[in-house]
Amino acid sequence: MTDEADRREQYVTDQVLSSFAATPTPRFRELMEALVRHSHAFVREVRLTETEWQAAVDFLARAGHITDDRRQEFILLSDVLGLSMLTIAVNQPPVPEATEATVFGPFFVAGAPEVPYGGDISGGANGQPCWVEGAVRGPDGKPIAGARLDVWEADGDGRYDVQYDDDRMSARGHQFTDDQGRYGFWCVKPTPYPIPHDGPVGDLLRAGGRGPMRAAHLHLMVAAPGFHRLVTHIFVRGDAYQDSDAVFGVKQSLIVDFEEQPAGTPAPGDRLLSGAFSRAHFDIVLAQETLGPDQEN
Ligand code: BEZ
Ligand code: FE
Repeated sequence: MTDEADRREQYVTDQVLSSFAATPTPRFRELMEALVRHSHAFVREVRLTETEWQAAVDFLARAGHITDDRRQEFILLSDVLGLSMLTIAVNQPPVPEATEATVFGPFFVAGAPEVPYGGDISGGANGQPCWVEGAVRGPDGKPIAGARLDVWEADGDGRYDVQYDDDRMSARGHQFTDDQGRYGFWCVKPTPYPIPHDGPVGDLLRAGGRGPMRAAHLHLMVAAPGFHRLVTHIFVRGDAYQDSDAVFGVKQSLIVDFEEQPAGTPAPGDRLLSGAFSRAHFDIVLAQETLGPDQEN
């Protein structure tokens, strides 16, 4: 590249940067300046063609058109590019004992039923019955009573309730820990399933030679006053997609044994079961709440 071409390119970047010089909010200015610097550097590094730029604009327009109150293509895009997991990593409280966080995903629904200790969140979803139990504690090891656990998962066919055309609510619920910080509920054993891949993000995965599958998991969101809210998963050890999760959500510390219990094994929570079931144990440590960048100012 000639010096003159280089100068002209840098001139564009400098002009855009200085257009934000009078931004009144310092954080917004920092974000926009970095966005301009990095996105301009990307265009220069790859020598982006105008056809490629147009393809990117068309891709974003398609993502917008397919997005509605049940489908969020931009979150999927962030997920498959690892941006969701990177943002989580950047914001993880610096407490080594705390349970690791992972992606929220698009399938949480507020208003899921409360289920007492020993109850069943499956709400009629098909799949193998599965007992999940554990305790919620602080970093000092003290139990946290009254912590709220929200739980949601795909059914045995790999679909969330909101992916059916009826108004069912199933395979989701919430529970509060008891005086000793314990929780325990029935659900269905998680199975691997594909993220929605019939839109532009699916096209991107195919163009990249990647698959849409998520490693089998159960979603958990755990909240208690004075503690940092945790959004995480429990992953099933031995699952085929643990090393190729489409959204990079797997962390070794979140993989647990789901032990097969043959038919006839007494079931927890006084449940009468004639067939086999599985069970898992997962203890949770919440970090104390501190003021993060989102709460400052
Ligand atoms: C999920 O686990 O529900 C999920 C996460 C990211 C993208 C799609 C689905
Ligand atoms: Fe999920």
